[in-house]
Amino acid sequence: MQNGAAVVFLRYERSARNPLESYARLRSERDRALGKERAPQHARQELERRLLHVRAVTEELCAPLSPEDAALQSMPLASPAKWHLAHTSWFFETFVLRALPRFRAFSPDYAYLFNSYYEGVGPHLRRDARGLLSRPPLSEVLEYRASVTAQLVELLQSGHGDWDVLAPRIELGVHHEEQHQELILTDIKHLLAQSPLHPAYRPPAAPRPVRELPPLRFVPHAGGLVTIGRAGDGLVYDNERPEHRCFLEPYALAERLVSNAEYLEFIRDDGYRRPELWLSDGYDWLQKQAISQPLYWQDGASENRAAFTLSGLMPLSPSEPVCHVSYYEADAYARWAGARLPSEAEWEHAARDQPIRGNLLESGELHPRQAEPDEQQLFGDTWEWTRSAYAAYPGYVPPEGPLGEYNAKFMCNQQVLRGGSCVTPAAHIRVSYRNYFAPDARWQFTGIRLARDL
Ligand SMILES: [Fe+2]
Repeated sequence: MQNGAAVVFLRYERSARNPLESYARLRSERDRALGKERAPQHARQELERRLLHVRAVTEELCAPLSPEDAALQSMPLASPAKWHLAHTSWFFETFVLRALPRFRAFSPDYAYLFNSYYEGVGPHLRRDARGLLSRPPLSEVLEYRASVTAQLVELLQSGHGDWDVLAPRIELGVHHEEQHQELILTDIKHLLAQSPLHPAYRPPAAPRPVRELPPLRFVPHAGGLVTIGRAGDGLVYDNERPEHRCFLEPYALAERLVSNAEYLEFIRDDGYRRPELWLSDGYDWLQKQAISQPLYWQDGASENRAAFTLSGLMPLSPSEPVCHVSYYEADAYARWAGARLPSEAEWEHAARDQPIRGNLLESGELHPRQAEPDEQQLFGDTWEWTRSAYAAYPGYVPPEGPLGEYNAKFMCNQQVLRGGSCVTPAAHIRVSYRNYFAPDARWQFTGIRLARDL
């Protein structure tokens, strides 16, 4: 080991408390069993390929933005694209490159500017001040990115370093950057929506034929003792482990997401003005914030509604899934519809054997689309609010060290969402993936799937 940071990481692995420990341990056992060399060249090449792909996609997503677009922050929860570009590089620099013997920081200031919330690493800029960083300019942040990418490639090609330490960390950095790709798009959408000019991030996709959706059908599930969570090989976040059993009463899950037309019925039935439909916190929230329709909808009372999209202001399609609703709105709608939201265990049990395909980032639509016949929309289109509070699974042990701050410290006052959205990279989503947001959050692509007791 070259220095203290690397030694610390090895200690996590030996204590079996690192978010990636199972992955590293199982891969080593598998490689030994197969008689493979410790750091096979093809594995390094494959990781290099994935690294270069994720770095290039992030930059492609930011390419349509002007330096002004990239520097602005529309609210404390959303970050400027320039900050995302730098922060994802800071993550690799801090958790991979800093442990190398001849490491030299690109800039001594960046550790403070582009650390997000890792208190164990050091102090950081206030989240709501990220939009005040007129310096460094975008051009310098892009140089920083190129420098970090080049150092990572050099490291992978050199064959130096302990593969069992480096590979999980670089892989975590790749997944972390995929997460920020989604945030870049949700944050830029929120920023552009503030402009009276309704600017488009990109031109609209070719229009799809609009079909009237059949009435919502519910698919029954027997429940019983089921298994959820993740065991075995492959990178997953610590919060998806351990695999465990839980008991489900018989339930039914809606076969697709709730549509705009169905949500409009709720509005027309005075859904936003009937306190009996709402959680107490939710009713307080909508009154204080004067909420009467999903985020980005325009002209709530008119027949010809429009919604702001990444292609600017577009007519609201009745057959597309309703999107940009809070947990409070999803819960109230479900109550109005004589249903409820699924628990995350119900969702995962129903999705466990389903192929991961759907309207994800790679479709290029960047907008939820109406369900095709027999399409369940379990993956992609919109994240699905669940009734489950974000908490530790039975047997979960929080990881030690700064990387333990990735997920564990947010297990309070948040709801779990499942399934990914139209801006989630396909490589990033899996059946056990647990996203989480505060119940009033609406700027992510969040929608509604209904459930019922049987
Ligand atoms: Fe991050």
